[in-house]
Amino acid sequence: MSNVAVIGTQWGDEGKGKVVDWLSHRADVVVRFQGGHNAGHTLVIDGTTYKLSLLPSGVVRPGKMSIIGNGVVIDPWALIQEIDRIEEQGVSISPDRLRIAENACLILPFHGELDRLREDAHGDIKIGTTGRGIGPAYEDKVGRRGIRLCDLFDPSELESRLDATVSHHDALRRGHGLVLIDKPKILADLLAVAPRLLPYSDTVWRLLEKERHAGKRILFEGAQGVMLDIDHGTYPYVTSSNTVAGSVAAGCGTSPKSVGYVLGITKAYTTRVGYGPFPSELSDATGRMLGERGKEFGTVTGRRRRCGWFDSVMVRQAIKVAGVDGIALTKLDVLDGIEELRICVGYTFGDDTLDYLPSSPKTQIGISPVYESIEGWAQSTQGARSWADLPATAVKYIRRVEELIGAPVTLLSTSPEREDTILVRDPFAD
Ligand code: GDP
Ligand code: IMO
Ligand code: MG
Repeated sequence: MSNVAVIGTQWGDEGKGKVVDWLSHRADVVVRFQGGHNAGHTLVIDGTTYKLSLLPSGVVRPGKMSIIGNGVVIDPWALIQEIDRIEEQGVSISPDRLRIAENACLILPFHGELDRLREDAHGDIKIGTTGRGIGPAYEDKVGRRGIRLCDLFDPSELESRLDATVSHHDALRRGHGLVLIDKPKILADLLAVAPRLLPYSDTVWRLLEKERHAGKRILFEGAQGVMLDIDHGTYPYVTSSNTVAGSVAAGCGTSPKSVGYVLGITKAYTTRVGYGPFPSELSDATGRMLGERGKEFGTVTGRRRRCGWFDSVMVRQAIKVAGVDGIALTKLDVLDGIEELRICVGYTFGDDTLDYLPSSPKTQIGISPVYESIEGWAQSTQGARSWADLPATAVKYIRRVEELIGAPVTLLSTSPEREDTILVRDPFAD
């Protein structure tokens, strides 16, 4: 039995939350290893919707251990709010079921402020961030001036750590004409929230080692998607962490060998929220129709997601750079009843044809998609729970996707509901 890593293969919102929740039935431990509350993962269980940002998507299943790894940046107040909100929905979240890495960096209020201020100052070249302070918090982490969960145990250590962070941010704030940081207030707020957070604090690398040795099955839950990866995505229109499976080991302190199977979550068409290149984007009625039928509004910010045809070139590339073994194809039902479907199978740039997405933003914006037409299906696939329920033309679409991306469909999702899922091959069994 192997452990499984779940990652997004497009620009996020592929349905990772639904798939992780479904798969967590077969797992003992679910671990987040990167990102923060920029993520929005939706689970629908018997008609009840749960929206998770920081909590791992196995949290709603009784008896499962949830872990937030050191690679995640944590906004303490957002996490407490999320815990309270999910508990109000009847899910119990206690320190014996949720553990948080003591070496995880925190997002503080001035990170969000700086994130939003930069976006406003950028005029026409915005990234379209979630405004949650993700980028500035990771900058402080790499700049070795971050505040970590373990700092909350020691008020005097916390105060001196804050000095380094605040002096850096105050210099920036002076440049932007902002009022300087009220350090005593930040310190007091952190000390006030500490008693809520610290009971969850743990040495996650040791805990994971113990769980692995006990033969427990671990599910690593990625946020965002490969095309938002800081190295491999459509830079600079990306998030500030590595979203590929290679990020798992560093993001929670485990061996790269602990990941046995990498499951790439892949939407049957393409969406993107925020700015940046999107070769197969549809700015017409078909794009709007996909958005309405797929309910493509951001879980975190409520923004309308941009929609387009399935881009097999991009997904093939994502599969290669992220080491994906098989995909979970989601939202196939959104394509029901569309007479003619299209799949992007290549790009042209001037006189050149390309079979990959180059790194230069200018090329990424300038390329045109080459489409292949494929027959749609009139019947409904919504809620299908067995392969035999799928129309032959839908199966043909799936087979063509597999052929183009060079990876098998391991799982198929046919509605937001937990159980509307078809298992083709158990990734834990590989
Ligand atoms: P994540 O960020 O990858 O977890 O995805 P989100 O939760 O942000 O967005 C995916 C949306 O699609 C959510 O509203 C899900 O409930 C929904 N969803 C997931 N799988 C399916 C599916 O197979 N069909 C349909 N129609 N909706 C789905
Ligand atoms: P899940 O886990 C979709 C996008 C933002 C923006 C860029 C940078 O739900 O798939 P950030 O706030 O991270 O600095 O924003 O990344 N983005 C996402 N898009 N799904 C997400 O997460 C995203 N998290 C960040 O829209 O374009
Ligand atoms: Mg999402």
